[in-house]
Order: sequence, then structure tokens, then C-alpha cells
Amino acid sequence: MDRDHALALLGRYVTSESLTRHCIATAAVMRGLAQTLGEDADLWERIGILHDIDFEIIGEDMTRHGIEGARTLREEGLSEEVCQAVERHNHTLFGPYTEPLDLALQSADSISGFVIACALVKGGAVTDVTPKTIRKKLKDKTFAAGCARERIAAVGALMDLTDFYQVAIDAIADRREELGLR
Ligand SMILES: [Fe+2]
Repeated sequence: MDRDHALALLGRYVTSESLTRHCIATAAVMRGLAQTLGEDADLWERIGILHDIDFEIIGEDMTRHGIEGARTLREEGLSEEVCQAVERHNHTLFGPYTEPLDLALQSADSISGFVIACALVKGGAVTDVTPKTIRKKLKDKTFAAGCARERIAAVGALMDLTDFYQVAIDAIADRREELGLR
């Protein structure tokens, strides 16, 4: 399944524009991380696109998050690797994580919105966001207060966090038009 097919599948289950943007941004970071870590970039991107496919199915019931996603993706014929990663990414049910894919998804899921929030402070210019911006804003607990700092740091087990911030910024900048940024 290529990127366009994964996005089309997501679009059959997700109507929210902001959730779709979150999935696009998370997938971009997953792709960038896979390239950096020597992993399967297409696979990691696909998992990023599909990781929250169940969000509108589960309502507010976070105990079903990921589990419904995996079930849906199995019905759609996705590989077990994709389905299990989607299921496991619900950190309120699973974890602590040790596998690179799981660690990367925790961090990509959390940094994607954070980078976008940093870009919005700069008038939507993600190209003006630097690792220094990220570090500064992470210290400010009132900024994007809902963003779990410890989940962003998960990938620190695999790579330097400043390098990770740069990977995330570059990945989101690559998709800036789709994300309504500049
Ligand atoms: Fe997510």
C-alpha cells in the first residue's frame, strides 16, 4: 500500500481535517526517523498515516483506542506489522516500549503537533522553527500544555534528541503545503 492509498483508507474512517493533518504530520516524522535509523521508510510512514484511524469510531473511549484501529486495519487487509504497531501505540494500555518502531511512533505522535504549534507562533512558517525553538518551548510547560514531554523524549533511547527535533522539523517542512504551513 503506497502513501496515496493509505491516505484514501484513512479518509474512509476519519472526517476531521485536523486529525487528518495530525496523521500526515506524524507520518512525515515517521518517514524521516526511518530514514535516519535505517528502517523501512514506506512501512513507518504507512503506520504514521493509519495510527489514529479509529479515533472517530471509539468516541471518547480511550480504552478502545488502537485496539479498534488494529481490528479495522486487519479487516482492510493490512499486515500484522502495521496492525500491531497501531494497537500498541496506545501508551495508556501498552508500554514501556523498547522496540525502535514503538519508540519512534510515541515520539512522532507527540512532536508532530508540537512542531506545528511552534510554526503557528511564527506565523505558520515551519521553516523558521529550529531545534532551539523546540527546546525552549518544551521547557515552557504552559505552551502546548497537553503535549506529553516524556513521549516526545521516547526516541532519545535511539538517537540524540536535538537531531530528532531537526528530523521532525525537516519532515514537516517537506509536507508544509499539505499541512497549511509555509
Ligand atoms: Fe496520534
